Amino acid sequence: MEKHVRRIGVFTSGGDAPGMNAAIRSVVRTSIHMGIECIGIRRGYHGLINGDFIPLDFGSVSGLSRRGGTMLYTARSEDFKAKEGQAKAASTCKLLGLDALVGIGGDGTFRGLLCLADQGLSVIGIPGTIDNDIACSSYTIGFDSACNTALECIDKLRDTIQSHERCSVVEVMGRRAGHVALNVGVACGATVVLVPEQEIDYETDVVEPIRRCRLSGQTHFMVIVAEGVEGGAYGVAQKIKEETSLDTRVTILGHVQRGGTPTSRDRIAATYMGYEAVRLLAEGQSCRVVAKQGNEYTSFDIHEALTMTKGLDPQTYTVMRTLTGIQQ
Ligand code: F6P
Repeated sequence: MEKHVRRIGVFTSGGDAPGMNAAIRSVVRTSIHMGIECIGIRRGYHGLINGDFIPLDFGSVSGLSRRGGTMLYTARSEDFKAKEGQAKAASTCKLLGLDALVGIGGDGTFRGLLCLADQGLSVIGIPGTIDNDIACSSYTIGFDSACNTALECIDKLRDTIQSHERCSVVEVMGRRAGHVALNVGVACGATVVLVPEQEIDYETDVVEPIRRCRLSGQTHFMVIVAEGVEGGAYGVAQKIKEETSLDTRVTILGHVQRGGTPTSRDRIAATYMGYEAVRLLAEGQSCRVVAKQGNEYTSFDIHEALTMTKGLDPQTYTVMRTLTGIQQ
């Protein structure tokens, strides 16, 4: 029998990402349009355990699309990992009369949703992370904004490394995924791009591209390193100093990449994904992750989504290797 959804709880969980607010707004407004009530759960799973919620109506999400961060706050809840925490969260849902939950976040958020689906709730996940590392979706909310923020900082850095004829090693976010590093590296015309997905051969991947640039007359060098690369930016900078004697400086961009006004690409993706999440629930569907495939918005079963893996975009990787002069 098809389950009729009357009240949805929406929350954000894990690392925040620009565009999460636009997704919340879309979930709320689409729900209202479909005659469904919507409440916001604050601080992710932590808030579900503690009954931390706020009623959301049409006006409470007004002007939200352009705001960075998440109006619902976010957290990485340790308590929810235990059965006791999950039971408490399920009790909160029961007490608040929730039939369904929409969780905006990454794989950890989706795994949590499955625990609550086991307790009879309808659940939908929306991919929101600057890392763009959700396998079933070609795009995750926040990626474009994060890349643009990093790029803006790197362009500024380039002015000073050019003046001083230095080598700059810039660490961008991505503990397990190099999508931000690769994308930003291509966009800024980096000398070297290092990602955690690939083993590094220092001679081929670092020293040789720097040498080639120097021989072509260049006197400053931009090296982009993903957070998850072995040794991090400091380790890479040390090796470069040892091998080339270049005057080398490290910049860790860090959490600045997670802030700021979302780009149009993020606002649009977030708005479509929020709409799609509520549409799926209204249709009686559950345990789905909204996904972008090409220009289409679709969805995957959460179990299936969690078994999928995503590598770096091969075309972008080839272009990066080609333009940095590495032999394929
Ligand atoms: O998952 C998003 C992300 O920004 C990663 O790129 C980064 O490694 C991690 O979160 C940082 O997490 P925290 O905000 O807990 O320091």
